[in-house]
Amino acid sequence: MVQKQLRPVALYLASSQRFSAPTRRRKEKDFLFGKKKIFIKQEFSEEPFHAKRILQPWTRGHVAGLTAISKIDAERNRLSYRGYDIHDLVDHCSFDEVAYLLIYGDLPNQSQLDAFCKTVGAHRGVPSEVISLLRTLPPAASQMDRVKAAVAALALFDPQREERTAETYRAVAVRLYAQLPTIIVNSYRLSQGQEPATPRADLNHNANFFWMLTGHEPSDLIGRAFNVSQILYAEHGYNASTFAARVTVSTLSDIYSGVVSAIGTLKGPLHGGANEASMQMLLEIGSPERAAEWVREALARKQRIMGFGHREYKHGDERARIAKQYVIELVNSKGATHWLEMADIIEREMMQAKGLYPNVDFPIGLLYYLMDIPIPLYTPIFMMSRITGWCAHIIEQLENNRLIRPESEYIGPSERPVLPLSQRP
Ligand SMILES: CC(C)(COP(=O)(O)OP(=O)(O)OC[C@H]1O[C@@H](n2cnc3c(N)ncnc32)[C@H](O)[C@@H]1OP(=O)(O)O)[C@@H](O)C(=O)NCCC(=O)NCCS
Repeated sequence: MVQKQLRPVALYLASSQRFSAPTRRRKEKDFLFGKKKIFIKQEFSEEPFHAKRILQPWTRGHVAGLTAISKIDAERNRLSYRGYDIHDLVDHCSFDEVAYLLIYGDLPNQSQLDAFCKTVGAHRGVPSEVISLLRTLPPAASQMDRVKAAVAALALFDPQREERTAETYRAVAVRLYAQLPTIIVNSYRLSQGQEPATPRADLNHNANFFWMLTGHEPSDLIGRAFNVSQILYAEHGYNASTFAARVTVSTLSDIYSGVVSAIGTLKGPLHGGANEASMQMLLEIGSPERAAEWVREALARKQRIMGFGHREYKHGDERARIAKQYVIELVNSKGATHWLEMADIIEREMMQAKGLYPNVDFPIGLLYYLMDIPIPLYTPIFMMSRITGWCAHIIEQLENNRLIRPESEYIGPSERPVLPLSQRP
């Protein structure tokens, strides 16, 4: 038997304008739509129905499309990429393997992986004009904005940029995967008055990044922890930046435009920018003794605590739990336990005050700090990984394209005449 559920069938604006179907048994409720107060009439329906899907279209709880790339099972705190659980991936795979999985659809065998790494290594260089552009951009601009400009410029040097086939998009995806670390590290180096570094073809994705940034390959622990962070950041359904990329390419614009839209979207602190913001918060708090009070005062000011809460995971973000194991390992190896104490206190306060769990950005911000990576690089490093998920979605969108163009419900003034200028108040 189908359980009876509340089903909103009529929405009334404050102006009494009605825009939905007739009701059977009604119940009125105030509802805030943006800044406008509207009245909702609801009825009991025998069809299973999620009220919030109508009431908050496109913002939450709304399925915007189909995908075969990743599955978020928020009820069970599970995340899988193309059927592989992230626990299994972080335990057994290099990020190069996961990048291959996302771009090509399945994990590579040894010869496929060797060929992929060879191609990636061969494409790490970027046109000298892109490096010259980075030299001219304001050094104080955010690294995300500098990298966004460089990726937009990179497109112009790709003769395949207007070819819209899945095969070309896969080739571009591999090149972007190879080139983004070069752009990101050199954007940072140039902004610090350092000379650009030359990538190495013989290293894997993670080791090459550290080589360019520091001149050294990472230690075993840092290499493992960084690898896990890259796997955890790679893909996450229709998150905001991926959705932005899909919207852009659904107009049959090109893959680079999709990626540039995604970069701009990732930058925001409610999305990728949260890893930098959460580390800045830890630095501002400074010591475990201040942590509880700091959080309470911030919440009293209605401030959002970065790195906490998630649109989908309401029982905790499994990626955060995995990343925290590596924070603990790094903290122990460095003898910097105060960071962990501080993080634990903030987690406890957030749970008590708001019932919110940390999301992936909270431990990963600290993880990168413990690796001595400069904070302005945290969100670009997220991008260095998410490029694989973005490109997988762009290819999936292209292969079964329909223009993504949602509708909106108008809640502004009713129709009115244009008054001559002289008569307007
Ligand atoms: C990610 C995020 C946007 C998801 O939001 P959401 O689940 O859709 O929830 P909403 O933004 O609608 O907020 C719902 C309530 O929870 C509160 N809330 C959510 N996240 C919060 C946070 N990090 N700190 C304090 N309060 C928070 C909101 O203030 C709101 O409270 P209210 O109903 O009293 O106004 C939100 O949790 C957030 O802003 N987190 C901080 C940024 C962040 O870490 N982003 C990375 C996400 S992976």
